[in-house]
Amino acid sequence: MSGPAQSPEPALVALRGASFAYEEGPDVLVGLDFEVREGRALALLGRNGSGKTTLMRLLSGGLRPRAGTLTLGGEPVTYDRKGLTRLRTTVQLVVQDPDDQLFAASVGQDVSFGPLNLGLPDAEVRSRVGEALAALDIAALADRPTHMLSYGQRKRTAIAGAVAMRPRVLILDEPTAGLDPDGQERLLTTLDGLRAGGTTVVMATHDVDLALRWSDDAALLTPDGVRTGPTAPTLARTELLRQAGLRLPWGVAAAGLLRTRGLLADSAPGPRTAEELAALAAMATPTD
Ligand SMILES: Nc1ncnc2c1ncn2[C@@H]1O[C@H](COP(=O)(O)OP(=O)(O)OP(=O)(O)O)[C@@H](O)[C@H]1O
Ligand SMILES: [Mg+2]
Repeated sequence: MSGPAQSPEPALVALRGASFAYEEGPDVLVGLDFEVREGRALALLGRNGSGKTTLMRLLSGGLRPRAGTLTLGGEPVTYDRKGLTRLRTTVQLVVQDPDDQLFAASVGQDVSFGPLNLGLPDAEVRSRVGEALAALDIAALADRPTHMLSYGQRKRTAIAGAVAMRPRVLILDEPTAGLDPDGQERLLTTLDGLRAGGTTVVMATHDVDLALRWSDDAALLTPDGVRTGPTAPTLARTELLRQAGLRLPWGVAAAGLLRTRGLLADSAPGPRTAEELAALAAMATPTD
């Protein structure tokens, strides 16, 4: 498999030498290079306050870098109306707290807001909203007032609103936070479906086990900048994990243990789920 650095295609969206500070605040990001490659599931990790949300807002155009550039398909983004519309029809951000995103009276109205705002014909809006509600498994909630939703339902509604824009890049800020285990599983299944349909998904998370299981690449924000690479080897770098305030994913720890016991070849991938660990253990069990 080719790593992100070898791909000849320009990144779908990228920051080059980007710096950002909030008004009267210290620098949050300095000289950052970061890219989102088409089709690669990307997990963004780092401690509280490391700048994950800020980076995501820079990528989606909600914030503008003080220095450096944001590029879309290799072209610098212009922050005028035309440039921002082009960016927002390509990149959609779902913020961490659904209550910061939802504002319409009902689920259906909220999800249709973006497509209506694009000036799409009614039939097109209806079809996009139906598709987004189905993808998030909330079609039955279309007429439900948003203030009568559970937290997980609000999260799903917020994601549906972004999906209805049919973005090429869907950026999710801690989408699994606050979801129960079944809700997390269902969300991952939904994201798999979106990925199969050609959407590139970027997710900020504190959950290293989820990142190991779900992502192709992991980007770790540390005080020294961002380090991006294929997930399993990147999340096995203990010093980097320490700098990013993260622990070792259990799958990486289990793979290390299996390798030192001679039960897993160095070249073989380690387990990412309990099921994969069980399958490896079954293969490694002496049969005599
Ligand atoms: N609206 C704001 N005004 C001023 N400073 C802010 C603002 N939002 C964030 N910051 C600061 O910018 C830095 C990065 O914050 P950011 O929210 O990007 O971190 P994060 O990695 O998303 O953290 P968390 O894991 O807690 O969500 C922090 O030091 C924070 O205090
Ligand atoms: Mg955040």
